Amino acid sequence: MATERLVSGKPRVEDESLDTSLRPRSLAEYVGQQAVKGNLDIAIKAARQRGEPLDHILFYGPPGLGKTTLANILATEMGVRIKTTSGPAIERPGDMVAVLTQLQKDDILFVDEVHRLSRVVEEVLYQAMEDFFVSWVIDKGLKARSMNLSIKPFTFVGATTRYGMVSSPLRDRFGTVHRLEFYDDEAMRTIVERSARILEIEAQPDGIAELARRSRGTPRIANRLLKRVRDYAQVMADNIITKDVTVEALSRLEVDELGLDKIDHQVLGSIIEKFSGGPVGLDTLAASISEDPDTIEDVCEPFLLQLGFLERTPRGRVATPRAYEHMGVEYPKSPTAQGSLFQ
Ligand SMILES: Nc1ncnc2c1ncn2[C@@H]1O[C@H](COP(=O)(O)OP(=O)(O)OP(=O)(O)O)[C@@H](O)[C@H]1O
Ligand SMILES: [Mg+2]
Repeated sequence: MATERLVSGKPRVEDESLDTSLRPRSLAEYVGQQAVKGNLDIAIKAARQRGEPLDHILFYGPPGLGKTTLANILATEMGVRIKTTSGPAIERPGDMVAVLTQLQKDDILFVDEVHRLSRVVEEVLYQAMEDFFVSWVIDKGLKARSMNLSIKPFTFVGATTRYGMVSSPLRDRFGTVHRLEFYDDEAMRTIVERSARILEIEAQPDGIAELARRSRGTPRIANRLLKRVRDYAQVMADNIITKDVTVEALSRLEVDELGLDKIDHQVLGSIIEKFSGGPVGLDTLAASISEDPDTIEDVCEPFLLQLGFLERTPRGRVATPRAYEHMGVEYPKSPTAQGSLFQ
């Protein structure tokens, strides 16, 4: 399952303390994502000059790329407080009202998994975001009456791994929407180097490069693998992370040279062998390897798409020639299922 996966970008219990100790505190410390950083830097400076709160901001992208980190950095850079909660935690409109009315002027309200807010809760939020005003109905039937309250100007920051599932009225109320990308090799090396320094782990440049390459462009995975490789280096080598140590440690953990693990291999293997390369629907694919469709969609797919191993077509997922090559299976020459898509 997802929670057991080493190369899932989703947080695991062991990541909590790691996330906090390694989380960059300022924009300057935040590696990569140049476009997003540049835009935020300007927005922060402008808002500070005007003495106003930031416009509402939405971050989206696969797990572990740094959405929560950015939300916290915004608060630090603006010198304001941040209140953090998540979509599923706010069940009723009253809960949202309670959160909103407790905010102080210019505070940031950060809601993770914002796509999981219910429609009734969202409705309270719309007015708050637009006019800094909440209205809600209390009591039922004849006693029902509506309550109105103005709230302090605040900044709403939302994060989601599923942009498509954020309702369009909510989407429209964000001043800016930022998509986080997988980090390139160079940024990943800088991140691993930084983490190794903070955790006081001795690592050689080629060891760092190898670890960075196998972390599927995701800082959270890099930090997690770094810890595992450190353990291996401590017990099996001289406590120094070299390239050989990294390769050996990660092969034992079944993380391949591109950062793919057993589940990715199962996904590709299943499309190629059981479904002749596809197209195959997500649910059918998930059932064929007894995985949760959400895990495949949130965790496996974005990276496989990025690698160009998978294509999403209206009729389902298709394995590309590159996927065949990586899996060591010859790409069928006959113009069968995928022949029309890739010549
Ligand atoms: N740009 C970065 N530079 C250095 N480290 C980073 C960067 N982005 C993220 N990290 C590291 O990765 C960890 C995970 O980041 P974060 O919790 O912000 O991800 P997320 O996008 O919120 O994930 P999720 O979707 O699971 O909530 C952080 O604790 C931090 O250590
Ligand atoms: Mg997060």
